[in-house]
Amino acid sequence: MKIAVLGTGTVGRALAGRLAELGHAVSVGTRDVAGTMARTEPNGMGNPPYAAWAAEHTNVTLATFADAAAAAELIVNATSGNVSIEVLTAAGADNVAGKVLVDISNPLDFSKGFPPTLFVEDSDSLGEQIQAAFPDLKVVKALNTMTAAVMVNPKAVAGGDHSAFVSGNDAEAKAAVVALLESFGHTDVIDLGDISTARGPEMYLQLWLRLMRALSTPMFNIKVVR
Ligand SMILES: NC(=O)c1ccc[n+]([C@@H]2O[C@H](COP(=O)([O-])OP(=O)(O)OC[C@H]3O[C@@H](n4cnc5c(N)ncnc54)[C@H](OP(=O)(O)O)[C@@H]3O)[C@@H](O)[C@H]2O)c1
Repeated sequence: MKIAVLGTGTVGRALAGRLAELGHAVSVGTRDVAGTMARTEPNGMGNPPYAAWAAEHTNVTLATFADAAAAAELIVNATSGNVSIEVLTAAGADNVAGKVLVDISNPLDFSKGFPPTLFVEDSDSLGEQIQAAFPDLKVVKALNTMTAAVMVNPKAVAGGDHSAFVSGNDAEAKAAVVALLESFGHTDVIDLGDISTARGPEMYLQLWLRLMRALSTPMFNIKVVR
């Protein structure tokens, strides 16, 4: 499948690398291709500059948000939550219309330091805001409840015996995303319901962040026992 991964950070790289490994044609989206390739400093998370990662992943191309989205059959949103709608606007409503969007973003507000607060919660979610801004996009919230390395390689934690969630209005789009998650090795993907159910997985971030601190590692996930 032709897949656009919007975002050059930890999540974008993890998803792009894994999807390419699985045989998909992957294009990563960024604001400014030349500018991103010219960066020589580690990014905000201390990761090597994008060009160093790209040199080891020559099967993944880099394009503007718009070019990546235009060529894709399925789109992944791996951008900072506070700019996700801006990024999708830059990608172009026509380029994203009718496509499935795997929305991994979290509505984190770091303006007051760590731990961040949520800039939307309780009676709304970022997944819903994206869906409302782009009615023709088939938004499926997924994978935002675990760290990037676990998203693409669930077996790295407890042999993969843990749970993932999907929320979205379109049944076919959710089925496509579940299949993608299963191709990564996820075995327990729970369909929570329509896009309003993204409120739960997004608000779980407040527990996830405390767990990360208490356990001193992001390499964990929750298992829903029933
Ligand atoms: N890190 C994790 O393990 C993890 C786990 C679960 C969920 N998430 C969520 O996944 C998303 C991606 O996280 P991340 O850590 O990989 O990356 P990130 O640093 O949150 O986002 C990087 C991307 O955001 C774009 N961006 C930043 N500021 C922008 C602006 N003003 N205008 C347009 N684009 C802008 C960057 O564009 P350029 O390429 O042009 O620089 C880059 O592609 C976030 O919403 C995060 O909350 C992360």
